[in-house]
Amino acid sequence: MKTALVIGAAGQIGRPAVRALAEDGWAVTAASLGGGRDADWPDEVRAVRLDREDDAAVVALVGDGVDLVVDMVALTADHGRQLAGLADRVGSAVVISSGAIYEDERGRSFLTQEEPDGAPRYPVPIPENWRTLAPGDGYGPRKVRIEQDLLALGDRMPTTLVRAGAVHGPHCRTPRELYFVKRNLDGRRTRVLAYNGESRFHPASVRNLAELVRLAAARPGSRVLNGADPDSPTVAEIGAMIDGLMGVETETVLIDGEPPSPEVGSTPWSAAHPVVFGMSAAERELGYKPVTTYAEALPETVGWLTGRLREQDWRDGFPRMVAAYTTGLFDYAAEDAWLASRG
Ligand SMILES: NC(=O)c1ccc[n+]([C@@H]2O[C@H](COP(=O)([O-])OP(=O)(O)OC[C@H]3O[C@@H](n4cnc5c(N)ncnc54)[C@H](OP(=O)(O)O)[C@@H]3O)[C@@H](O)[C@H]2O)c1
Repeated sequence: MKTALVIGAAGQIGRPAVRALAEDGWAVTAASLGGGRDADWPDEVRAVRLDREDDAAVVALVGDGVDLVVDMVALTADHGRQLAGLADRVGSAVVISSGAIYEDERGRSFLTQEEPDGAPRYPVPIPENWRTLAPGDGYGPRKVRIEQDLLALGDRMPTTLVRAGAVHGPHCRTPRELYFVKRNLDGRRTRVLAYNGESRFHPASVRNLAELVRLAAARPGSRVLNGADPDSPTVAEIGAMIDGLMGVETETVLIDGEPPSPEVGSTPWSAAHPVVFGMSAAERELGYKPVTTYAEALPETVGWLTGRLREQDWRDGFPRMVAAYTTGLFDYAAEDAWLASRG
């Protein structure tokens, strides 16, 4: 049996990816900080604790060698170097990268979006061979460093980089869908959406990402793939889908342009221009076909989120969401004041 080590296995992408690999015949060691396991994993999956910052612990887990390493949490240049250092003992790798690595023709990217005229204007969709940021500091530039270091290994450790879009699914620690689900549970029936509600930040179901991992594992290669769903709804459409699933009716106030303030009209998908990823590399190189759409995957996520929000305050349940969206996602007072100011 071929062996696979999955780093970050108990996260949202890791859970379905481990299951997909196990069902495909891989003997999987599922490593995460806490060593957790998913209820859907077959018993044969070995769940272990690992802090991947500890190089010696990673080397010990790889032991005499593994056929595959899947890395969900490669975030720094050191993580890339750590993987590259294992090349003589690892058959191939699949590493989750990010769509945040792209820049537009004027050098604008996610890094510049808060600057005047800094919102990136990408082609729709963004092909996998589109230009990327230079390696350096910050989330996207670090991912670029990792990608370049791993691709440079070539046949020594063929590595597939999966540039994920806006990841969604159960067990998400920064669930964008929380924006609409919590408002609906709080009884907010009016919402404000900047950019006419037309923002598109291409979602990526954890199930489609798991399918990409499964296919790339079966057919190793040095390559970059985008990872996103077959559909890319606007933020207004996402809100309407969530309303439909939760059985509520809402009124949407559209703003033609930027949010009037950071607290009003901005959502986790809001952007001046669409961010949509092309999937042709995965289709061409792996015969990839999506296993779900955003619309099909959404009920599971909304059901999971609703349950979590009934059990605990969102700030306790989703501390990383609080940290990621520092402008405040649920400043109802600011929103009410803005609505009142418009009469
Ligand atoms: N969220 C997005 O929209 C988005 C978009 C593009 C790309 N990405 C990429 O997606 C990846 C994150 O995947 P995810 O969303 O599935 O992650 P996640 O849900 O946040 O889960 C992270 C997993 O990694 C484990 N982990 C964290 N630190 C670790 C460490 N030092 N050593 C070993 N395991 C560790 C966690 O362990 P515990 O379970 O024990 O805590 C958990 O199992 C990142 O590479 C990110 O750049 C995300």
